[in-house]
Amino acid sequence: MADWLFTDEALQQATAAPVARHRAARLAGAVVHDATCSIGTELAALRSTAEFVLGSDLDEVRLAMARHNVPDVPLCRADALRPVSRDAVVVLDPARRSGGRRRFDPRAYTPPLDELLEVYRQRSVVVKCAPGIDFDAVRQLGFVGEIEVTSAGGSVREACLWPAALTEHGVRRRACVLDRGEVLTDVEPDDCGSGPAGRWIVDPDGAIVRAGLVRHYAARHGLWQLDPDIAYLSGDRLPPGVRGFEVLEELPLREKVLRQALSRRDCGALEILVRGVDVDPDALRRRLRPTGGTPLSLVITRIGAGAGERTVVYLCQSGIATARVG
Ligand SMILES: C[S@@+](CC[C@H](N)C(=O)[O-])C[C@H]1O[C@@H](n2cnc3c(N)ncnc32)[C@H](O)[C@@H]1O
Repeated sequence: MADWLFTDEALQQATAAPVARHRAARLAGAVVHDATCSIGTELAALRSTAEFVLGSDLDEVRLAMARHNVPDVPLCRADALRPVSRDAVVVLDPARRSGGRRRFDPRAYTPPLDELLEVYRQRSVVVKCAPGIDFDAVRQLGFVGEIEVTSAGGSVREACLWPAALTEHGVRRRACVLDRGEVLTDVEPDDCGSGPAGRWIVDPDGAIVRAGLVRHYAARHGLWQLDPDIAYLSGDRLPPGVRGFEVLEELPLREKVLRQALSRRDCGALEILVRGVDVDPDALRRRLRPTGGTPLSLVITRIGAGAGERTVVYLCQSGIATARVG
């Protein structure tokens, strides 16, 4: 891609290559029309998997760049709201206004998401959306397929809407952790218990949390929840390739106690993870001022509810499980 043409804005909007390749792999053998193709990032991945691929966009300049970037792909200028293909799976990546309102607004997409879903109601359409999309609101727009949340490079990249025809029977939510090739869906069992911390605490990948598949992930790997409403998991063994937090001691959220414990263990770099408790990790780290040489972590969370609710701090060292060979 060294000789690709792009603009700053087009590059910022472009799908990350591993995510584009993942989508293209799911569309292997299909006839695909990327109707918001921009400079051609997704087309570049699709042309090696799809049976036939076509691109279009409303923006002449981006199309000209796409013609240079993917010269072997047929392209045309077209409004995605006025379909120009038939019988192809349509891939859409509407642009999103950055910042602004926190509430999900389908009209913050260009073209608007509600109009796209309406126009392509009878078609197989795959729509890339922001990871923070409101799942219920999308369903209220009439969407009945699968929502796949994908992470890559350690962060959640997108939520993608897949038509029911292109997913396994009954799957409504999927998490795909591209960094370690792990895929999880809501048709898997989700029977996991909750209880006190074992040897390890696991902070599940953001895609799993966002897809609402924390319990499914726990069940798959023999983990349990620290609290039924909190996404931290625990177990005596780490899932392969996963970074976890080995519990050294359990402490109350009292800064004097924490400072003493960190100093006893010669803590230097301090990572602080927080869920379910109103603590600003950066401010707490500044106040604790660890000055030693050992990297440690604090996992701060709420356990229990109502009268039994308490805040717990786990002092941990992080580690990673390596896959077993043979
Ligand atoms: C987020 S970008 C797509 C990025 C692309 N998937 C990639 O990976 O490079 C959105 C694109 O939608 C195009 N667009 C906006 N409104 C459109 C419309 N009504 N019809 C077709 N394309 C449109 C924009 O010109 C822009 O290129």
